[in-house]
Amino acid sequence: MILSEGRGHYTNSSGARYHPRPRILKVANLLWLKAFHVIAMVTWFAGLFYLPRLFVYHADAGDWISVERFRVMERRLFILMSVGAAATVLLGSAMIVAAPGYLKMGWLHAKLALVLLLIGYHMLCFKFLRDFAHDRRTHTAKWFRAFNEVPSLLLVGIVILAVAKPF
Ligand code: HEM
Repeated sequence: MILSEGRGHYTNSSGARYHPRPRILKVANLLWLKAFHVIAMVTWFAGLFYLPRLFVYHADAGDWISVERFRVMERRLFILMSVGAAATVLLGSAMIVAAPGYLKMGWLHAKLALVLLLIGYHMLCFKFLRDFAHDRRTHTAKWFRAFNEVPSLLLVGIVILAVAKPF
């Protein structure tokens, strides 16, 4: 129970002073989470855009030195984009925990459906990375060129839903 109000603090029934947590601080926290969510998303997409491009070149590579170099680049890029993916999901989920009202919004549900597709795409990239690591060439360079277009389409959908919130 609040007994008395001082300058910038309250005193409770045990006489201890405490500072109420103003709502504005909560909003600021959400904005920090959102800023880092967007930064992590950009890191994730750097990999989602470039890894399949490496697969295009790798599928056409003939000499052993290039093949070996592509393998190393693919592995390192996949680690970086997985960190970006995990941070995007964690920070997005943290915003929902901080403000559960988000769960009532239709755009978020549609966005999460597209994010699931994106995670599926990420896992497919891992499968192709493993195939190349074991010298299995399952698809042509042309096929990987088309595969490379998928993240752009998902990015357009997800960003429109997150920013314009059409429903
Ligand atoms: C599980 C994954 C994700 C969750 C739970 C999630 C959740 C959220 C939440 C709750 C917001 C705050 C919305 C607002 O206050 O306006 C947000 C913002 C945003 N998200 Fe995500 N998100 C996820 C993945 C993604 C992905 C993969 C992308 C990009 C492709 C993305 C792009 C954005 C953008 C650009 C914003 C800023 C919107 C604005 O400020 O207008 N999110 N996200």
